[in-house]
Amino acid sequence: MDNWQELEKKYFMRTVERAPVTLVKGRGVYVWDDNGRQYLDFVGGWAVNSLGHCHPVVVEAVQKQVAELIQTSNHYYTIPQVRLAQLLVENSCLDRVFFGNSGAEAVEGAVKLARRYGKLRLNGAYEVISATGSFHGRTLAMVSASGQLKHQQPYTPLPSGFVNVEFNNIEAIKKATVEKTCAVMLEPVQGEGGVNVPDDGYLKEVRSWCDEKGILLILDEVQTGMGRTGTLFAHQQFGVEPDIMPLAKGLGSGMPIGAILARESASVFSPGEHGSTFGGNPVTCAAAFATTRYIIENDIPGNARRVGKHLAEGLDRLKEKHSFITEVRGRGLLLAMEFDSDMALSLRKACLAEGLLVNDVKTDALRLMPPLIIGETEVDAALAILDRVLSRI
Ligand SMILES: Cc1ncc(COP(=O)(O)O)c(C=O)c1O
Repeated sequence: MDNWQELEKKYFMRTVERAPVTLVKGRGVYVWDDNGRQYLDFVGGWAVNSLGHCHPVVVEAVQKQVAELIQTSNHYYTIPQVRLAQLLVENSCLDRVFFGNSGAEAVEGAVKLARRYGKLRLNGAYEVISATGSFHGRTLAMVSASGQLKHQQPYTPLPSGFVNVEFNNIEAIKKATVEKTCAVMLEPVQGEGGVNVPDDGYLKEVRSWCDEKGILLILDEVQTGMGRTGTLFAHQQFGVEPDIMPLAKGLGSGMPIGAILARESASVFSPGEHGSTFGGNPVTCAAAFATTRYIIENDIPGNARRVGKHLAEGLDRLKEKHSFITEVRGRGLLLAMEFDSDMALSLRKACLAEGLLVNDVKTDALRLMPPLIIGETEVDAALAILDRVLSRI
């Protein structure tokens, strides 16, 4: 057999330190490597495999569509994207949709839409206020929007038009709001920043402030959307509605798709002002339609809420037992466990050796984001592995 890991080292740009595992197959909440070893997957394609690996409804939708029509120009109507747009609008507080291919593209498109709104309605305002610890993607503009120095410093000077202010601090947003501000952009729960849940009331205060100032609220639900936190969209738990909402990750259950949803009043693009060659691709849209319909019809957000509670309770028990666990936090099936020292990498490696995939979201925190179809039995199996690993530290 070829040594895939050696070949990767020879040919790839060095953007990631991969775990020494070559995955070849996935079903449900499990993946297998090229030696036939099975792993319980609490990374889930980075919070992407909402229905697990190779869910039959997704496989069937892709197989059917790929044999009919794979790609056309957006100069023509295609059916899967219209069906998906209708389903998303009918199940959200928003009115219009644009499809792209990834989270970064969706969030960047959301910022373009806010800037267009600023030009047309707010005397040319263009600046977007975002939060420290946020993550909005890897394009140059999204690096500038993401309030994390480790992503920004390698690429300075960064595109202008973004100010990063402290997360969970309404006064910081008020202070940063100026004539040229067109929008505030936040993740309802920060994912890559370490699973940070804001205080009750924060998002409501942000919403009121945006209304008072006439500026837009963009809620980046790329990671929190599609049931991940226990409701179809995380903002529903905080009693607020965004003007613009980028989605991606769980939307296609593994097929690459991003979407911008917006209120009618904020949908100010005119023909030719935004676009994407592959955006709205029939195959990815068919997968996303099948995923979204399944999520809604089978109350997958409810499963994320119930099983997420079971997982959180299990993690709380581990916290009682192991004094170096300082906090368990998150919503639904987006959870993190923080430690009193930088032990996340060694824990991640120890879990891998025991057949459990987890993410060291920070040097001192592990993040758990399994498929949303997971049951309590698999959660108990993961908790048993975590307990064994934590007991050895
Ligand atoms: C909230 C949020 N926005 C945007 C992105 C970027 O998505 P992508 O990696 O698909 O470009 C991510 C990715 O982790 C994310 O968590």
